[in-house]
Amino acid sequence: MPQIIEVTTRKGDPAETSSDTRVVGLFVDEPSGIESIDKLVESGEVKASYKSTGVVRSHSQRFVTVGMGKRDEFTNERARIVGAAAVTAAKGLGAKTLSASGPDTEDLSGTAAAFAEGVILKNYVFDAYKSKSDDDDGDGDDGFITSLEIVTDADIADAVKIGVASANAANRARDLQNQPSNVATPTYLGERASAIAAEHGLELELHDRDWIVDKGMGAFAAVAKGAVEEPRLIVLKYNGAGASGPTLGFVGKAVTFDTGGISLKPSGKMEEMKFDMSGGAAVLEATAAIAELGLPINLISVVPSTENMPDANATKPGDIVTAYNGKTIEIDNTDAEGRLILADALTYAIELGAERVVNLATLTGAIIVALGSTYAGIFSNDDEWAAAVEAAGDATGELGHRLPLHPEFADLIKGKYADISNAPGSRKGSSITAAEFLKNFVGDTPWTHLDIAGTAWDLGRNYVGSGASGFGTRLLVELAREHGES
Ligand code: BES
Ligand code: MN
Ligand code: ZN
Repeated sequence: MPQIIEVTTRKGDPAETSSDTRVVGLFVDEPSGIESIDKLVESGEVKASYKSTGVVRSHSQRFVTVGMGKRDEFTNERARIVGAAAVTAAKGLGAKTLSASGPDTEDLSGTAAAFAEGVILKNYVFDAYKSKSDDDDGDGDDGFITSLEIVTDADIADAVKIGVASANAANRARDLQNQPSNVATPTYLGERASAIAAEHGLELELHDRDWIVDKGMGAFAAVAKGAVEEPRLIVLKYNGAGASGPTLGFVGKAVTFDTGGISLKPSGKMEEMKFDMSGGAAVLEATAAIAELGLPINLISVVPSTENMPDANATKPGDIVTAYNGKTIEIDNTDAEGRLILADALTYAIELGAERVVNLATLTGAIIVALGSTYAGIFSNDDEWAAAVEAAGDATGELGHRLPLHPEFADLIKGKYADISNAPGSRKGSSITAAEFLKNFVGDTPWTHLDIAGTAWDLGRNYVGSGASGFGTRLLVELAREHGES
C-alpha cells in the first residue's frame, strides 16, 4: 500500500504547530521573517538557491529550509520539486509530521497544491515484497512522513484537495505498475476496477475472452490468443453531477506482460515489460480520482488488458484478423500488440459514446529515442483537443510534445494482403506509424494518443525517481478538471 499522508491546510501563525518539523520555503534575496533562518542565510550557512535544503533549530522548533530559487523563475513544477527536496531532507532527520509555510507567490493555490503533490509523490515507496523496508528506522512506521499541514493566509484548500487526490491516484497507479505480472494480471486489474466502481458508484463492464471473441474484437483477441491468463476488457462509466460538454473517453493500454509473443523480445530488460500496463493503470486511477472529486464531466474509461505470450496457440507473424470496426489487419510482428488491443478498445469507447478520446500507451521503443523520459509523444487528429492535452501536461509537469501525422506515414502501414499492417517493414517514423495505425479506429472523433513508453517508469524527475511514475494520471485528472470548467 502507498504511504498515505494526511494533508491539511490552515490559516494563522505558522509557529503554532504540533508538527515535529517546520518546512520553510525561501526565495533568493527575500527574508523569511524568521530571524534565526535569515541570519544563517546571510552568513551563507543556509541557502535559498533552488532545491538547496538546510536544517535550523530555534525556539525549540526544528526547521527544514528549502530553497525556491529566484522568484521570477518559480513555477508550479518547481514547487513539486521543492516539496520532494523537503521530504528527502525531513526523512533524513527522522521527521514524521510536517508543517509548511513560505512566501506568497503569484498563484499561491497552485504553489501549495503542487508542493503537496511533490511531498506525496516523493514519500511513495514500493516495498510490498521486502521483508524489511529499506527506509525502516525501527519505530513501526517505516520511516515515512505521515502528515503535512500547509499554513497560508489564502484560500488554498480546494486546490490542495485536487492536488492531493491526483497525487494519491498517481501513487495508486504506481502500485499497480510496480506489482509483478504474476500478481497484476488482467483479472487483478479487473478486480481493481470493480473496487473503484463500488467505492465511487460507477458503472462497470468486465468482459472475458469469450465475450471479446464473440463480439468480433479480432485484433484484441489475436493478442490474447497466446495467453493462458484470461484477458479482460474493462469499462468504467462516470456521470458527474452538473456535467455539460462532450463525453470524455480515456483508453489505456494494459498489457500486463509483453514478451513480444512469437516475435519474441530479447531477454535484456524484459522484466521491465511488466510496466506495459502503465497506460491502463493511469486511466483506472485517474477515473477513481475524478469520481472522488466529483468533477462535473461524463467519462467513459476503457482498459483492454491481456498478456502477450508465445504459445502453441499464439498468433503468428503474417496472420490476418478482422478488427471490431471491420478493418482487416495483417499481424506482421506480434510484438506490435499494443496498437491491436487499442484498436478495438478505441472503437468500443466511441461506440459507447465517447466524444473526445485520449489514449495512453507504452506503445513504441522509438519514442524513448525521440523524446527520452522528458516528454511523452502526442499525436492527434484534432488541433484543439491536442492543445488541451498538452496544456494539461504543462500544468502537471507530465509533459508531452506533439509529433506529426502525415499521409506518407499512413502509406507505410498499408497491408500487403490485408487493409493495414500492424508493423511496417520500414522503421521510418515508427512512433508515428503506430499512431497512424490507431487513427484507423477513431473515425472523425477528436482523438489524442500519448505514447508514454519513455515516461511510464524511470522518469528521473526528483519527485518520482526510478521505478513506476504513474505518468499520465495527474494529466488526466487535470484534463477532466479543465474540461468540466469550459
Ligand atoms: N511495449 C512495447 C514498447 C516499449 C518498448 C515500451 C520498450 C517501453 C520500452 C511495444 O509493444 C513494442 O514492442 N513495440 C515495438 C513495435 C515494433 C515491433 C513495430 C517496438 O517499439 O519495438
Ligand atoms: Mn510489444
Ligand atoms: Zn507492448
